[in-house]
Amino acid sequence: MKAVLKVTNVSKRFLVRGGRKVVQAVNGVSFQIAVRQTLALVGESGSGKTTVGRCIMGLSGSFDGTISFLGQDLEQHRRALLGRTQIVFQEPFDQLDPRMSIAQSVEEPLVALRVSAAERRRKRNAVLELVGLGQEDASLYPAQLSAGQQQRIGIARAMITDPDLLVLDEPTSALDPSARAEIIALLMKIQRDRGTAYLFISHDLSTVRFLADRVAVMYLGMIVEEGPTTEVFARPRHPYSRGLLGSVLLPHPGFPPSDEAQLSGEIPSPIDLPKGCFLASRCPFVIEACKTAIPPVEAVGPDHFIRCIRSDEIGVSAQNDVFEQFQIESERILSVGSPLTPSTMESLHNG
Ligand SMILES: Nc1ncnc2c1ncn2[C@@H]1O[C@H](COP(=O)(O)OP(=O)(O)O)[C@@H](O)[C@H]1O
Ligand code: SF4
Ligand SMILES: [Mg+2]
Repeated sequence: MKAVLKVTNVSKRFLVRGGRKVVQAVNGVSFQIAVRQTLALVGESGSGKTTVGRCIMGLSGSFDGTISFLGQDLEQHRRALLGRTQIVFQEPFDQLDPRMSIAQSVEEPLVALRVSAAERRRKRNAVLELVGLGQEDASLYPAQLSAGQQQRIGIARAMITDPDLLVLDEPTSALDPSARAEIIALLMKIQRDRGTAYLFISHDLSTVRFLADRVAVMYLGMIVEEGPTTEVFARPRHPYSRGLLGSVLLPHPGFPPSDEAQLSGEIPSPIDLPKGCFLASRCPFVIEACKTAIPPVEAVGPDHFIRCIRSDEIGVSAQNDVFEQFQIESERILSVGSPLTPSTMESLHNG
């Protein structure tokens, strides 16, 4: 399958405390995204998801490793590739200039590409239609729109350059369930019609379950598990992924907490990471050997990888029933207050 984006061994450090300390925000991250495919990056806050997205977009300064876009080095060809990758942010209002009309906001990315005014207007009308807004909305200002409509404008702005890749950084977390479901349906429709590849950054596992073909689980800057979404959700193999999915289940009375799906203890500081596996202080499966070196990446199935030295023993036990239940629970969460049912979502996804 043709890779739109190929991220290879990317690391990003930030100097903090007056340059005296280093935050290792992203640590040796690799993944690929194909045409018409969605890869979800999930993980707790601070795991490095946004920094990965910002490195792709050239918004985070220099980094180690390489990012190639349709076979070309993205850093070297950023000018020529302007508009081919776009980003949609979490806060719909913050990404729009309140003094600019919707027409001006949506057309803005084309100004940098020196597109004529007539062509900008034509593309703006087409892209407003794509996101379900009318030409009459073009004269409005951001404050006159609902959060869901503002996010549609954010998507229209991104899509106006007809990008091959969209980085979606928590695009639905600021929305109510009904607007969230509408935005998810819109993103699915755009991908089906245009073939756009998505990097979908989210901590909302219920949404990821529907939207993503593949999921990469990040913890303290590293991808600890990556695989097909159905596989990772039904049979998570890394203790961190199991903890993350388990934490969604815990409030539900029907699913008693399982010790093997719970993380305890302190998260290490990103400015003082331990020598071995970063999860050692929280992992229910930890043994002494875990603390000596960072676990290498190992295949645990077709296109399914984890970083854990106990992969042979974990994730193949009866505890997997818990995660089958998660799928049912995630469908319930997603359908609360939503005009879309899980089956509508499924059919949208499959076209
Ligand atoms: N500009 C920055 N300067 C210093 N530290 C940063 C900066 N951006 C992110 N970080 C740190 O990098 C780590 C990863 O952050 P981030 O990528 O925002 O994670 P996530 O999106 O998963 O919540 C965090 O420890 C965060 O505090
Ligand atoms: S390597 Fe050890 S500490 Fe790390 S996730 Fe695996 S079992 Fe847990
Ligand atoms: Mg973030």
